[in-house]
Order: sequence, then C-alpha cells, then structure tokens
Amino acid sequence: DQPGMHQAEQLNWEAEQLRKAGVIGGGASAAAANDDGYEFVIDTVDFVKDAMLAGENVEARPDLEAQAEDEKERLRLEKLSKFEAIQEERRRLPIYKYREELLAAVDEYQTLIIVGETGSGKTTQIAQYLHESGYSERGKIGCTQPRRVATMSVASRVATEMGVKLGHEVGYAIRFEDCTGDKTLLKFMTDGMLLREFLSEPDLAGYSAMIIDEAHERTLHTDVLFGLIKDLIRFRPDLRVLVSSATLDAEKFSAYFDDAPIFRIPGRRYPVEIFYTKQPEADYMDASIVTALQIHVEQPLPGDILIFYTGQEEIEAAEEIFRQRTRKMGGKIAELIICPVYANLPSDMQMKIFSPTPPGARKLVLATNIAETSLTIDGIRHVIDPGFHKQNAFHPKTGMESLLVQPVSKANALQRAGRAGRTASGTCYRLYTAWSYQNELEDNVVPEIQRTNLGNVILMLKSLGIHDLLNFDFMDPPPSDAIVRALEQLYALGALNDRGSLTKLGRRMAEFPLDPMLSKMLIASEQYKVSFEIVCICAMLNVGGSLFYRPKDKLIEANAAINSFYQGNVGDHIGLYNVYASWSSEEVNFASAWCMENFVQVRSIKRARDIFDQLVNLMGRVEIELISNPTAHDAVKKCILSGFFYHTARLAEKLGKSGQAVRTAAGSTGGGGPLLYKTIKAPQQSVYIHPSSALAPKPPKPNDGGGKDGSEGSGEMLVLPPRWVVYHELVYTTREYMRQISEIESKWLVEVAPHMYSEKEIETLNGGDGDKMPNRRGKGKAAE
Ligand code: CDP
Ligand code: MG
Repeated sequence: DQPGMHQAEQLNWEAEQLRKAGVIGGGASAAAANDDGYEFVIDTVDFVKDAMLAGENVEARPDLEAQAEDEKERLRLEKLSKFEAIQEERRRLPIYKYREELLAAVDEYQTLIIVGETGSGKTTQIAQYLHESGYSERGKIGCTQPRRVATMSVASRVATEMGVKLGHEVGYAIRFEDCTGDKTLLKFMTDGMLLREFLSEPDLAGYSAMIIDEAHERTLHTDVLFGLIKDLIRFRPDLRVLVSSATLDAEKFSAYFDDAPIFRIPGRRYPVEIFYTKQPEADYMDASIVTALQIHVEQPLPGDILIFYTGQEEIEAAEEIFRQRTRKMGGKIAELIICPVYANLPSDMQMKIFSPTPPGARKLVLATNIAETSLTIDGIRHVIDPGFHKQNAFHPKTGMESLLVQPVSKANALQRAGRAGRTASGTCYRLYTAWSYQNELEDNVVPEIQRTNLGNVILMLKSLGIHDLLNFDFMDPPPSDAIVRALEQLYALGALNDRGSLTKLGRRMAEFPLDPMLSKMLIASEQYKVSFEIVCICAMLNVGGSLFYRPKDKLIEANAAINSFYQGNVGDHIGLYNVYASWSSEEVNFASAWCMENFVQVRSIKRARDIFDQLVNLMGRVEIELISNPTAHDAVKKCILSGFFYHTARLAEKLGKSGQAVRTAAGSTGGGGPLLYKTIKAPQQSVYIHPSSALAPKPPKPNDGGGKDGSEGSGEMLVLPPRWVVYHELVYTTREYMRQISEIESKWLVEVAPHMYSEKEIETLNGGDGDKMPNRRGKGKAAE
C-alpha cells in the first residue's frame, strides 16, 4: 500500500504501474468521483498484450511524424469549401494513386479481381472512376453490397462526392426500397436485388460494368451471382466485371473466374496493438462495457471506440447500459457519443456514425459485423472484439434453420482489429484469451451457401431456367442434401412439379422477394379471401427489429397497451395484424401519436407501411385482389399454415387433470421452465415458445390489476397452452425457441398440405395423449 493515498488515487496509481508493466487493468479498478463527490468504481477487465497487427501488402506507418502530418492535412482540409475538401479527401485515398492503372486494366481485361485493405476506397471510388472515364455512356455502372445499410450509406456518400442528389445520377436499391430514377448511372444495390434483376433482365443489358463488392463476405446471394455472372460474361464481351474483396486470398476468386488478373491496392495503416484477456470472460457483454469505460476514462482523447456485437437487441441493451453508467458518472468524464450501427438502422441515424467527433468528446460505435469491412468509420482507435457474431445455421437433415451466436473466425478477428489503425495507431482488445484465438477460432467462416436454407435461391434459379442445380458452377457448392432438401420443400409448397420444373404457382411465388414460405402464404390468401390481412401480417413479419418498446418506468401501461392487441388469445400473427390495422385505420390514419400511446416503435411500423405498399404492388403483379375479412381468424391461420406447414409443432408434455396445468409460479412440472414442444415431422425436434410470444404461458401475477377488457381468468390463469402451433422462425439462444406463433387445429394440416400430412398420422399424434383436447378457441367458454 502507498501510505496516505486516497483509495481512488491508490487504484489509479496501481493501474498506472500495471500499464507501465505492459498489463492493462491488471485487476485494478479505475475510480473517479461524480459531481456530488460520490465515489464509484469501474471494474476492470484484465488484459495481456500479445501481438502487433501487421498486414501483408500494407504500408505500415508507425511514425508519429506521419500521424502529425495527417493531422495537419486534416486541419488544412477543414478550411476548404466542403466540396473541394471532399475532392481532396478522394485524392488522398490509397486507391487514387492507382486510378489510371486500374482503368487501363479494366479496359484490357473483362474480369478483374480487386483486392485492397478496407478503407482504401474501393467501394466509393471505383464506380466513380468508371463513370468519369466514360463507362456510364454505355450503360449503368452497378455495384453490389451484401448489406442494406452499407448500400444506402455508400450510395449517399458517393452522391455527396459527386455533388448530386441521391436517387438521381447516383441511386440505390434494397429490398422494398428503390431509390433510383431515369437519370441513375451509378446504382448501388444489395446482392439480393441484383439477383432479382436477373429475373427481368437476364443479360443485364442496362449495365456496362458490374462491381461485385465485398466478395470476401461470401454471402449466399454473392455466391449465386458469381455463377450467373461467370456464365453471362461469355455472352456479353462488352460487360466489365470487377470482383472486389478486402481479404488477401484473392487467388481463389481469380481461379474461379478463369484466372482473371488480380489488381492489388496497397493499403495504408498504422500499427495496432492487440490485447487478449488473461482469463476467459463469462459475460462478454459486461466485459465489453467495462473495457470501453476503462478506455474512456484512462485513454487520452481523441480516439473513438468501436465494439462489435452480434445484433440489434444486444446493441440496444448495451446502449442502455452505457447511458445509465455515463449518466451516473456525470460531468467527471468526457462526453461519450453513442452511435449504434446495425442492419435496420434508420437512415437519419446513419448520418451520426460518419459525422466527425467534436473536440472534447469521444464516439462510441456499437456495431454488428457490418463495421468489419462494409463500413469504414474514420477516427476509430480502439476496437473491442468480444469474438462473436450471429450466423444462420441450417441442418439439411431436419430442415431446421436458426440464427446462432457463434465465435468469429480468425479472418474476422483480423479485420476487426484492423479497424483500429486507419487514421492513427490503435489498440484492439479481444475479450477472449490468446490461447482461445490460436486454438478455438476457425481460420475462415464457412460460406453462407453451405449453411443456409436454399429454397429462395433455388426458386429464383429455377425461374431463370437453370434446372441442373447439382451441376451449377458454384465456387463452393452447397451440400447436395441441402439442395435436395430445398427442392423437396419447393415441391411440397407446390412451386415445383414432380419433374422439378416450376409450376404456375411457383412462377407467381418467384415474383416476391421473400422466403418461399411467405410467398406461398401470400398467394394462398387469394383462396381464403383474407389477402389484406395476410399482406399486413407479411409486412409486419418483415420489419426486423423490435416492434414495441417497454420503458421501465411505464412498464404496466406498456404491457397493458401491447397486450390489448393480443386479446382473446389470437396469437402473434393476428396480433401483428391488429397493430397494423389499428394504425392504418381511418381514425388513426398512420398517426405517430398513436404509436406513442400504444408503445409501438414509430420507425418499425413505418417500415411495415413501406413493405406493405410494395407487397400490394406485387400482389397486383400476380393478380390477387386485396380482400379484407378481419374476423376470419381461422382463414388467416390456414393461409399462414399453407406456407408454413413445415414450421409446426405440438405440445409434448402431459397436462394436468383438468387440462389447465399450465405452469403456475409454483411450476408443477420441471420447476417452471418453458413447455416442451416437438416439431411434427420426423426427426422430431424439441422446441419451446419464445418468452416474447403472446402465447407464452405467463405466471399469474399476484395483483393483476388488468382484466377489465372482458377476457376472463385474469387472476386464475385458466388459459390452456396451445396444443398445436405454427411458428414463423426458430431462434437459438439458451434453447431452440419458436418466434411468432399461432395456435392451429391439427386437422388443418391435412386440409392445407394433404401430400404432407395424412389424417391417420394426425390422429395418431392426437391419440398419443389419450384425449381429444378441448380447444381454447371459441369465445370465452374455454375449457371443457
Ligand atoms: O471499400 P473500401 O473499404 O476500400 O473503402 P470505402 O468504403 O470506399 O471508404 C473510403 C473512405 O470513404 C473511408 O475513409 C470512409 O470513411 C469514407 N466513407 C464515408 O465517409 N462515408 C461513407 N458512407 C462511406 C465511406
Ligand atoms: Mg468497401
């Protein structure tokens, strides 16, 4: 102990000693006092320094002089007019030095692989270079992106650089949103949108050049585009194709595209120090927050922080915690500007990410892996990498598909760390041990095509007249049982006939940019005369992100408001319909005030409206009239089932004698865990109702104040759990959860999918429990 030191000082002193010794944190706690003199302690995470990140092919700039020079240059730019400054910035990007060489190579070779460090200017510059050298006189210049947010933000950046209005010369297209016009020459689009363009224009006649960007991400759609483009270039000798990637293993791309030349753009980067945790961290969320605050309190400004999270929910949760903690610390710390970045981020909030951090403040970017390579945010000097991302996983044997949080690969980790060294030297804190990095992380991620449901893509390829899928020229072919499984599913949905060709129904389904199950549901709505309701539900299911919000201080009101949409145990789908129908009703007329009163996220429901409008258009294309039948709940559910009969499960637990043995707080069975369901088709999988579902059994509340709404049993909990359910999707968190669920009658399965379910089979399943369960449906009089 250092005598005479105040505790906080003592801790700071210790931390300082440990830092000098090369150990950050070192079990010490940084402490400070807020305005009231109240002392608080920030926990720390122990790190050990392990490595310095050095990229091959990168011009490293370890010198402080370079840093000072860059800073001087930045200040000079600030004095120029905005447009001039942007042109200067463009000229300073690493790619600029290679502009002429690159254009000459594009002239010479039809296909070119372009490799360059993230941030070197590939995405924003190449399309402009092609435009400036006259390619746009012969057709549009297209550029694909794997991600929606990146597509919009890059298009907007390029429009600014060119001094034009977004949607005119420079435009973008993402699913359910087309921001292009007659004048558009540079078109940024998601890879999925270009795939759809193949349907209407298989030779891409409107384009003179196509850039397949962020190819290293190897998304399903990019991989399929590879095959289509490779085929197309034989017929379009005038079309220029540029495949651009941020990773250095470009040989594979080159080999696939018949030994296309590789054009390397040397990057520029400052060194990045890499730290690992000493011990494995049990809670990476908490560790990330602690680490960020530790950096914020201890490291000098400037220097923004970037943390990688797995998804929107996690980012929102972290944002909330950061706000709380920084509020508590009050004026004693520099301002922390929190910027979330994820797929469904509304465009107004995207601006915030790129606007420069004001002096005296620090930006804290909370991002998904979108910030790994798709978006470059300047000014980041500290990266915190918990080492996880969300990936979809598909098991062809069972047809089960779910989103899993999984460890990143070494390639991801490398990219993440690299984000810290763009404008100055930086640090990367990996919230896992060096051992785990070496021994537990895979080298590369498995391409999406090898771990996802192929239904949608196969339907599209079939519409393009590609029949022999097993011999399609994939760069990395999907497992053949995944192809077979998808073909079976399309056949079961009625999209393919027994010879594997597209049916009339399949042709109509292919019009929708949706999963085939959703497309089928939409088309089935014609027959059941509930097309309006189904379009509403479909739009709401595609919103992504959370629909409701429940502020802690108004939890009771929020729950009451939200529950009112689900009254009468209608289930999640019809609940979604109720929300949209109320908001779009004549009286409410899309009012934002209504959203506030009902705790509905304005942004989410506005997006539903955009999707709704697009879907109505597409329904017109397949000649389905919008018919509304709001009370026909069974018809609505049958429609859903027509598409989702694969996504069905039944209750697999015995219920109590009176048939109402739902889990009480006491939890008669297994101590209150969720009820076990089994998927219906063999091999049966264990699944559970997601706690967020309106149909999730709720423990009775001791003083349930509600219940004036005419629904009975508010206190007694007489509601039976649904026996048979259809679900929208599975998510795996602590267990396999079904999300967005409606109760169905088992006999409907035979009605909507007679080729899949026989009456006998259903009877056997129902007979298993020896009783014909009463159905809760049928107003009020529930049990018996
Ligand atoms: O594609 P690549 O990673 O090679 O680089 P880029 O995305 O073209 O980024 C080049 C520069 O443009 C970076 O310094 C970004 O910060 C900047 N940029 C921007 O300011 N705003 C955007 N929306 C996108 C890029
Ligand atoms: Mg890029």
